[in-house]
Amino acid sequence: MDTYIYVTDAPKDRNVRRTESIKLYGPEAFEGMRRAGALTAVCLDEVADLVRVGTPLSDINSFVIDFAKQHHARPATLGYEGYEYACCTSVNHVVCHGFPNAKKLRDGDIVNVDVALEVDGWYGDSSRMYSVGRPKRAAERLINIAHEAMMRGIEAVRPGARLGDIGFAIQHYATSERCSVVRDFCGHGIGQVFHDAPNILNFGRPNTGTELREGMIFTIEPMINIGNPEVKLLEDNWTAVTRDRSLSAQFEHSIGVTADGFEIFTLSPKCLHAPGVDLLISASE
Ligand code: MF3
Ligand code: CO
Repeated sequence: MDTYIYVTDAPKDRNVRRTESIKLYGPEAFEGMRRAGALTAVCLDEVADLVRVGTPLSDINSFVIDFAKQHHARPATLGYEGYEYACCTSVNHVVCHGFPNAKKLRDGDIVNVDVALEVDGWYGDSSRMYSVGRPKRAAERLINIAHEAMMRGIEAVRPGARLGDIGFAIQHYATSERCSVVRDFCGHGIGQVFHDAPNILNFGRPNTGTELREGMIFTIEPMINIGNPEVKLLEDNWTAVTRDRSLSAQFEHSIGVTADGFEIFTLSPKCLHAPGVDLLISASE
C-alpha cells in the first residue's frame, strides 16, 4: 500500500529527509521548486556556450561550481554518496554519471550534462543533450527520440494517473522508434530532499503502480539507447556505459503534479531545453 504525507510549507525546515511515504507539497513548495528549477535551467542554458570541440569536461564542472556560487546555490551532486563533481557529463555510449574529467570534447560527440542545484533548501534537477560540432544523423535522431520520450512521460502526469502510465508512455514510444530503454536507472521524488520516494521507472504497464496525486514532485529522466538496453558500470563504480557501446541519450526535468496535470520546473527561459532549437531559430531568420 502506498502512503502519502502532506508536507506543510516550511521552506527552511532542514530536517526533511527521505521517507518511504510520498510527500505531497503545497503552494510554497511549488514556489521554491520554481526558483530552484529556473536556476538549474539557466545554468544548463549557459553550459551550451562551453560545449565546443576541444573543451575539457572539467571546464563544465568548474563552470557549474562558479555559477552555483554566484547565485548562492549548491551543486547537489558534490559530495553526494562520495561523488566528487558538481555535474555529470556523459559522452556518447556513457549512459549516465560520467565524470567531468580532463577528457576533451570531439567533433560529433553527443554529451548529456546533468546538473542539480539546491536553492534555499529546494532541489532543481535537470539534464539535457548537447552536440559537439556536427552530430551524425543517427545521434541527432536519438537525441530527438530521448527528448520526446521524456515529454510523453511528462504528458501522462495528472492526478489519478499511475506511475505505470508514465513508464508505459516512455517505453512504448522509445521501442516504437526501435530504441531501447535503460532499466537500471530511474527518476525520483525530489523537493527538499535530492533523491526521495517514489522511484519513477521508465517502463511499465498502463493503469498499474502508485497513483499520482496533486502536490507530488519528482523527476522524469529516461535513458534511451540506439542498441540494447544493458549497461555496465566501469571500475570507478559510477560511470555507466552501454554494454554494446551503442549511443545513449537522456533528458531530465523536475516536475510537480498540479490539479489538472503537471508543471515543469526546469524549463529554460530561453527555450533551450529542447533539441533542435538552433535549427528552428536559423530557419525563422
Ligand atoms: N542529477 C542526477 C540525477 O538525475 C544525479 C546523479 S547521482 C550523482 O539524479 F551522485 F551522480 F550525483
Ligand atoms: Co535526477
